[in-house]
Amino acid sequence: MIESELDGVAEAEGRIHPFPWTRGNFVDSLAAGHQVWLAREDGRMIGYAIMMQVLDEAHLLNISVLPELQRSGRGSALLTHLFDLARAQAATRMLLEVRPGNVSGQALYQRHGFVEIGRRRDYYPAHEGREDAIVMARDL
Ligand SMILES: CC(C)(COP(=O)(O)OP(=O)(O)OC[C@H]1O[C@@H](n2cnc3c(N)ncnc32)[C@H](O)[C@@H]1OP(=O)(O)O)[C@@H](O)C(=O)NCCC(=O)NCCS
Repeated sequence: MIESELDGVAEAEGRIHPFPWTRGNFVDSLAAGHQVWLAREDGRMIGYAIMMQVLDEAHLLNISVLPELQRSGRGSALLTHLFDLARAQAATRMLLEVRPGNVSGQALYQRHGFVEIGRRRDYYPAHEGREDAIVMARDL
């Protein structure tokens, strides 16, 4: 993902997530040197994923597939790509946070071997107040 693609990414993010990242959040991720991947089919964006690695731990920050293309293997393909990348950079574990109400996210992660390792209290903004995060991890 490069800066000139961020208008399209931010527009998609707004359609995919109830509490979307802002364009500025993506700019910050690019500037921070995170692994920032855009997935395309026939030149058209179908999703994206962002990962941050610190020493031997990879942290998945965002994985998204366009709503009309979900549930057909694309999220799994993106996630598998991130596993390969993280391993190539000597990561031994991947971590992520997910909302308790995010059924598709949790199902994807469980299917790929993530298990819950804890909760972060009041981690996410919610419609009323804040929402906890489930922290999940898997060995690579
Ligand atoms: C989570 C997400 C990236 C998954 O991508 P996807 O392309 O739909 O996932 P896949 O088609 O590879 O599905 C893999 C498995 O995940 C699970 N899954 C995915 N979507 C699901 C849903 N809506 N309900 C239940 N299980 C689901 C299933 O186990 C599925 O395997 P199956 O279809 O063989 O049963 C996508 O649904 C998405 O963008 N969701 C909104 C954004 C989000 O919540 N991201 C994660 C937190 S940042």
